[in-house]
Amino acid sequence: MMALETTARVKLLGLSGSLRSNSYSRTVLYSLQRALAPNVCLSVRDLGLPLYNEDEDGDSASDDVRSFRSSIAASDGVVIVTPEYNHGIPGVLKNALDWASRPLTRSALARKPVVVVSISPAFTGGVRAQASVHDTLLAMGARIVGGPQIVIGNVAEKVVRGEFVDNVSLSFALGRINQMMKDIGRSESKRPLAIASASLPADLREVAVAG
Ligand SMILES: Cc1cc2nc3c(=O)[nH]c(=O)nc-3n(C[C@H](O)[C@H](O)[C@H](O)COP(=O)(O)O)c2cc1C
Repeated sequence: MMALETTARVKLLGLSGSLRSNSYSRTVLYSLQRALAPNVCLSVRDLGLPLYNEDEDGDSASDDVRSFRSSIAASDGVVIVTPEYNHGIPGVLKNALDWASRPLTRSALARKPVVVVSISPAFTGGVRAQASVHDTLLAMGARIVGGPQIVIGNVAEKVVRGEFVDNVSLSFALGRINQMMKDIGRSESKRPLAIASASLPADLREVAVAG
């Protein structure tokens, strides 16, 4: 199978809603990163930012905050993978999105295409957190790439020796990223998935071709 053809190198930003060192959310992001075609670059960054304080925004914004906003602005699209905390959005992710939402009329996320994936060791897959993330993104005018929610339940059973091995979920998420690239006019291909076949196990390649 050929990799997706794109008009130019595509820059995506991956955000993990968890700071945990062995985070499943980050593991899923790295699996997506490896599965993307060579001309699609997904940079993953953690969200260790100060707590939002309007007194420390504007001219007083820290270098970390400026760099975070710049990385969103420089990307063609954002991929968020997040757990659910107490039936909602983890504070670290909400905090980062609050930083990204300002300045109010010039948010780096305004009109930015965003794909959201939620994960959980529970079968519910963080679906409530995902709804909450969507609400927050809508408040700042981000372009959520819609469709059936990408919800990864029982995630602990799907990470083996640090690798995310649920190829059906991975393929589903890649399909949404492919949709995002079509939406932003960076894909000329009719092929369904933004994947480099050589980087995928054989069973996922079959799922991709079937898609
Ligand atoms: C404070 C806290 C609250 C949590 N609340 C939920 C929850 O409401 N629903 C759920 O499915 N999992 C919940 N969990 C479990 C997380 O989904 C689990 O720890 C997950 O692995 C965290 O994501 P990570 O692996 O990316 O760090 C919670 C975990 C913590 C630490």
